[in-house]
Amino acid sequence: MPTRTLTRLTLRRPDDWHLHLRDGAMLRGVLPATTADFARALIMPNLVPPVVTAAQAIAYRDRIRAALPRDADFTPLMTLYLTEATEPADVARAHAEGIATAVKLYPAGATTNSNSGVRDFEKVLPVLEEMAEIGMPLCVHGEVTDPEIDIFDREAVFIDRVLKPLRRKVPELRVVMEHVTTQDAVDYVRDSRKGMAATITTHHLIINRNAILAGGIRPHYYCLPVAKRETHRLALVQAAVSGDERFFLGTDSAPHADPAKLQPCGCAGIFSAPVTMACLAEVFEAAGALERLEDFVAVNGARFYGVAPNEGRMTLQKGEAWTPDATVMTGDGPVTVFDPGFALHWRAA
Ligand code: DOR
Ligand code: ZN
Repeated sequence: MPTRTLTRLTLRRPDDWHLHLRDGAMLRGVLPATTADFARALIMPNLVPPVVTAAQAIAYRDRIRAALPRDADFTPLMTLYLTEATEPADVARAHAEGIATAVKLYPAGATTNSNSGVRDFEKVLPVLEEMAEIGMPLCVHGEVTDPEIDIFDREAVFIDRVLKPLRRKVPELRVVMEHVTTQDAVDYVRDSRKGMAATITTHHLIINRNAILAGGIRPHYYCLPVAKRETHRLALVQAAVSGDERFFLGTDSAPHADPAKLQPCGCAGIFSAPVTMACLAEVFEAAGALERLEDFVAVNGARFYGVAPNEGRMTLQKGEAWTPDATVMTGDGPVTVFDPGFALHWRAA
């Protein structure tokens, strides 16, 4: 019997549980790409200077609200940047007052603007214990910074050296391992007891490390954690399309103006917001799992964060292949949009 091919898909409006919006002219330039599709996003705090205190989070949230396109129906959910000087009481207050949804842990030096991050994990234990107490999630950039460790191994080593000991010390802490890139991380999350989840980005479902390095060096595919070999990508796709509620979308859409990417030492980050939903529809369709796209983008994450899934709906329509804009122009310069390397047929109706 021929299988009926789906050409129209209506789902709850999605949430992006890991998003970089930046500030100022860049914020104004990239925000519409997210608000066009997403109802909510968890906003990363790695500005310069970072969003460390509740007061800074309120001010940043206000700047995002002020930059919203007219008619946008979008809620920014804020995070606090964890430093060794973060006060447990400030975090607890920010959570109780609905200012901060989560705390973000960057190992110092792991990625863009992570210098104020954590060097000595013992020093942040009082904050983590407080968060466990109040049920506030910790979002983790899971890579070790030890220069001796090969960059392709830094996520797997982080699990053994940092995450496992941390989870033993603060077993009740709710943890999201952000932008997982390896089979190791997928297995770790699957085997964990309750309270452990992972976000998966759009691009890590689509590219492997060949995209960055084979046949020429392609800076627009460079991000952190760096994409791994194909077996790992396949493990991510399997986790995403499985419906397993511990895996959900966090795009890690991370805009940098082209001149900052196209340098002898270019910035890490892939700007996927404008094409994420179209890309994901292709990925889930290819996996024969379109009916589980809604869980991944609109249900699992909301459940983990303890908020109701969005009531609004978005409709994706399949048609002729279309070509997205290659760049989005911002007041900070052009930002190249993620190119999945295959034709897109789905788009918001
Ligand atoms: O590629 C990345 N870009 N990874 C991160 O962890 C940070 C992000 C950014 O802020 O540009
Ligand atoms: Zn990120």
